[in-house]
Amino acid sequence: MIMAKTNLKCRECTKEYEPTFKYICDECFGPLDVHYDFPEVTKETFQNREKTYWRYHELLPIHDKKNIVSIDAGMTPLVKAEKLGDELGLRNLYIKNDSVNPTFSFKDRPAGVAISKAKEFGLKSVGCASTGNLASATAAHAAKANMPCYIFAPSNIETAKIAQALSYGAEYISVDGTYDEANRIAAQIGDRKGVGVVNINMRSYYVEGSKTLAYEVAEQLHWNVPNHLIVPTGSGAMLNAICKGFEELQTVSLLDNLSSMHMHCAQPHGCAPIVDAFKKNSDKVIPVEQPETVAKSLAIGDPGDGRYVLKRLKQYNGIAEETNDKEILDAILLLAKTEGIFTEPAGGVSVSILKKMVEEGKIDKDEITVCYVTGNGLKATESIMSVLTKPQVMQADVAKISAVIG
Ligand SMILES: Cc1ncc(COP(=O)(O)O)c(C=O)c1O
Ligand SMILES: [Zn+2]
Repeated sequence: MIMAKTNLKCRECTKEYEPTFKYICDECFGPLDVHYDFPEVTKETFQNREKTYWRYHELLPIHDKKNIVSIDAGMTPLVKAEKLGDELGLRNLYIKNDSVNPTFSFKDRPAGVAISKAKEFGLKSVGCASTGNLASATAAHAAKANMPCYIFAPSNIETAKIAQALSYGAEYISVDGTYDEANRIAAQIGDRKGVGVVNINMRSYYVEGSKTLAYEVAEQLHWNVPNHLIVPTGSGAMLNAICKGFEELQTVSLLDNLSSMHMHCAQPHGCAPIVDAFKKNSDKVIPVEQPETVAKSLAIGDPGDGRYVLKRLKQYNGIAEETNDKEILDAILLLAKTEGIFTEPAGGVSVSILKKMVEEGKIDKDEITVCYVTGNGLKATESIMSVLTKPQVMQADVAKISAVIG
């Protein structure tokens, strides 16, 4: 099995480092990204491979395949959304349905790569700061790797997400505060105790998992570049990683130029610091102190990659837009009723922004549009139930029930 040669490169000053357990540049404190000397690959390389994101192992940062910790995540459906497309007036609309991953969100991608790398580094334990989904993705991979796992999450997240993470056997620290506070604690514990915190001190490797959201979409579109991508955004790590993924496919000559690609950022009203900066034409993201939104997985007031998302939007002629709770919940139902896909509010955010963009004439009906749906509706039923009519309990009586049918 051929694996890539890698090093770490500062996103700001471009200084390079050996690929060690390190994530911040000594010179300028910029984030370090994994930089590759890719082996030669062709379209055929990936044919007939396993249906997980590890099918792209040549382009991922694990050097010895025995360190790969896989729960068979990835290669999720790219659904041609004919019915939703008809409803909105689009002829080439696709939903990347990442809600059907093993732990039911896209977070299986970054968590799996970060934990594999933690194993490669010989770390003894792992953890994460989470808005809910990363908790389960990290805990499930840690269970598979037989590593202790520490979760730091705000106490107000959905019950299903807590139940799920606890079931995988993680040590769960429920922090009385916001995600940013949980994140600060996780960073300090990671440093003090040598825990591989997947989205903090393992972040350089973590984002490598999310770039497979670009690889898969490109492969599923038969190695064509989409015109519009709509990405639900919290910290901004995923949006940035998707851009990196498309660029790498260009580097290895699997894609032509990306000039026709537009990258868009979708955030919920009540926690939309990147949208605020974009609309002010500022490159400074001002943190939201107390996020308030039904899209709890996107409630990251101080987005670590916010500044880089703004750069990406400029680079790829995209926009940042926000949507309110009612619109998010309406979009969840629209997606469910047209395509049979049940998403949590984060996916409602991207579908709602998609709808707005079409209504505002920002997407042409023939353009290839990919809307990322990144988490499952079963994780947030308490929020979604608030807009549904609870069924009335009826006596088990055929006559009475047939009287109310059609
Ligand atoms: C379902 C879902 N979608 C999108 C995101 C946003 O990802 P990022 O924080 O990388 O912007 C998250 C983050 O937790 C999430 O759980
Ligand atoms: Zn630097």
